Amino acid sequence: MDRETLIPQVGVVTDIRQDTPDVKTFRVVGLDGKKLFEHIPGQCAMVSVPGVGEGMFSITSSPTNEAYMEFSIKKCGCLTSWLHMIEPDQQVTVRGPYGNGFPVESALKGKDLLFIAGGIGLAPLRSVINYVRDKRENYGKVQIVYGSRSKEDLVDYQEIINEWMKDDGVEVFLTIDREQEGWDGHVGFVPNYVKELNPDLGLTVLMCGPPIMIKFTLAGLKELGFKETQVYTTMELRMKCGVGKCGRCNIGNKYVCKDGPVFRFDQLDELPSEY
Ligand SMILES: Cc1cc2nc3c(=O)[nH]c(=O)nc-3n(C[C@H](O)[C@H](O)[C@H](O)COP(=O)(O)OP(=O)(O)OC[C@H]3O[C@@H](n4cnc5c(N)ncnc54)[C@H](O)[C@@H]3O)c2cc1C
Ligand code: FES
Repeated sequence: MDRETLIPQVGVVTDIRQDTPDVKTFRVVGLDGKKLFEHIPGQCAMVSVPGVGEGMFSITSSPTNEAYMEFSIKKCGCLTSWLHMIEPDQQVTVRGPYGNGFPVESALKGKDLLFIAGGIGLAPLRSVINYVRDKRENYGKVQIVYGSRSKEDLVDYQEIINEWMKDDGVEVFLTIDREQEGWDGHVGFVPNYVKELNPDLGLTVLMCGPPIMIKFTLAGLKELGFKETQVYTTMELRMKCGVGKCGRCNIGNKYVCKDGPVFRFDQLDELPSEY
């Protein structure tokens, strides 16, 4: 890791999108108006409001976007509440990129891909999905299963229906937890929907979501005949340093910040207790 990765850089928030009642997407550039740094889909950055705190967030924009980077941030505590109060043109600091990212230029290249996301878990996968859409010739068919509590809680809903669903070779399956007026799509939890869809066993799976979703979806995929070597996930354990020094984020002998956050399931000897 080079020195620059460790040093926070000043970022200007140029645009803020209210995605769901508790998720906002922040567009950030450097003081010179350019993208702060390059990243691999699935990598993260430490975003800070000086004097308030610092937190790890997935870079949700694709590296193919050369103008800016975006973070989709769910309001849940001190830092994220401050971030939700900032206005365009205000500054934050950003250091990174951290973590390994998804192997988009090696193991995933040429593969048929199944993305499975729950809630804010779409944030890291959106970076991969848009990367794959921009480099369509390098990948096979793409299926996306995405679920949230309600229609309003589906992050990036407009992009999904106006762009992803219109792409050739991309199939999107949306689901919400409970029936609601104005929704005529699928209703039910993501793990059950994946089993109902009975996906092709040739697909390589990338998933991200709450621990309970990961746990039951992985079990369901195994029942269908998928092997752990076909399934990647990205983990969101609590982090402090982000660079393998503080010991806050270990799973067995692995540090999520340094060895992950992306893991193929067969690479993990155990899952954290909340999974
Ligand atoms: C690799 C990685 C990628 C992440 N990507 C995103 C992202 O793209 N978008 C996003 O909104 N969040 C993401 N997170 C979670 C994000 O870092 C935390 O939500 C944030 O730091 C909370 O800060 P806070 O001060 O607002 O909350 P705090 O005041 O610290 O905590 C508020 C509540 O959230 C819980 N919490 C805090 N951090 C985490 C965590 N890491 N995992 C689970 N629960 C937590 C606390 O237990 C508490 O209940 C990611 C975390 C990691 C480790
Ligand atoms: S966050 Fe410090 S070791 Fe991973």
